[in-house]
Amino acid sequence: MKQARPKRILLGITGGIAAYKSAELVRQLIRQGHEVQVAMTEASCHFITPTTLQALSKRPVLLSQWDDSEHGMAHIQRGREADLIVIAPATADFIAKLAHGLADDALSTLCLARNCPLLIAPAMNREMWSHPATQRNLAQLRNDGVQILGPAEGDQACGETGMGRMLEAVELAQEIHARLQPDILQGVRILLTAGPTYEAIDAVRGITNRSSGKMGYAIAQAARELGAGVTLVSGPVALTPPSGVNTINTTSANEMFEAVKQKVGQCDIFIGVAAVADYRVAQPSEHKLKKSDETLTLELLPNPDILAHVAALPNAPFCVGFAAESQHLAEYAEKKRLQKNLPLLVGNLAQSAIGSDENELILFDDAGQYPLPRADKLTLARELMRQIAHRFRERKT
Ligand code: C5P
Repeated sequence: MKQARPKRILLGITGGIAAYKSAELVRQLIRQGHEVQVAMTEASCHFITPTTLQALSKRPVLLSQWDDSEHGMAHIQRGREADLIVIAPATADFIAKLAHGLADDALSTLCLARNCPLLIAPAMNREMWSHPATQRNLAQLRNDGVQILGPAEGDQACGETGMGRMLEAVELAQEIHARLQPDILQGVRILLTAGPTYEAIDAVRGITNRSSGKMGYAIAQAARELGAGVTLVSGPVALTPPSGVNTINTTSANEMFEAVKQKVGQCDIFIGVAAVADYRVAQPSEHKLKKSDETLTLELLPNPDILAHVAALPNAPFCVGFAAESQHLAEYAEKKRLQKNLPLLVGNLAQSAIGSDENELILFDDAGQYPLPRADKLTLARELMRQIAHRFRERKT
């Protein structure tokens, strides 16, 4: 089998004290089998020397856009060769530059001329981090598809404590590595639902399920990282959609159902992660109901089962369901899988899953059960997507 070529990472270092961690980051990335080209701003050279980075990366460091050795085109060329650009640390100043598209040194020019994804690992004093200008710039970058890793909370070099520490080299290397996986889902289209639905009672009240959407959003990101085209039909959540994912916002189960019906013809895999409300109010009131001492009775109608509908389509995509149960997980999950006719169902315990950043999963399929031990939701989502990709390919062949 032909060996895949190593991935090329362009690591940009800007001028903050966290730059000392970048040396370790280079070592970690090289140990993972990647090629690393370092580019440094002038300010970063006050914190760590290019000689150190050159020795670790085994390549000359890009320092100036006026370097003539490539007819002054190094800033374009190095960016074009990269599979990924990572800025670690990214200072408040450099973030502001990126947000405004400035290109007044080698690194910012490289970023502007790139045609690959850009990841940044912010590092700065907590006041600089929470300043509206920095937050405005970060929001702009998120909108532009830039992915932001961290920062973490804790002790800062200035002696203060708060948000703004750069993630540790090991954590950054893991995140970068995850984004450089082979595109095993290239050309595969995935449609997924996530979050709760909201069923109006009147103009201000409603019925909903407890669901943060974190698991579904993490799965959307993991699917994207493996090269899939991803459409996310989301219920109301307080999350930013992962970059590169086509997101359709919905509120009620019926709206979610309509969006799924519109898109399902163009998908190969359907994953129902949403906690769809089982019932809706028969006659929601347009105006706010006035409180009284009388008993209020609401008539509830059953909502459509989106996943069961998709799984029963004549040319159904590969369907994956979720089951959150508060007891008898294995029994209920397997029953649900057979009822809805699904090749794969992912079970989790509602108590440990809802709202939390961590979870643990059990996969149920024709072969039996397969546990995914407790981990943060993104780690689980990445493992789950590998499992789904594997089963999808097996079924196709
Ligand atoms: O609610 P229930 O436990 O049946 O959910 C199991 C699976 O079915 C989940 O994947 C959920 O997203 C999906 N579902 C759905 N439409 C519903 C109810 C559940 O798509 N109305």
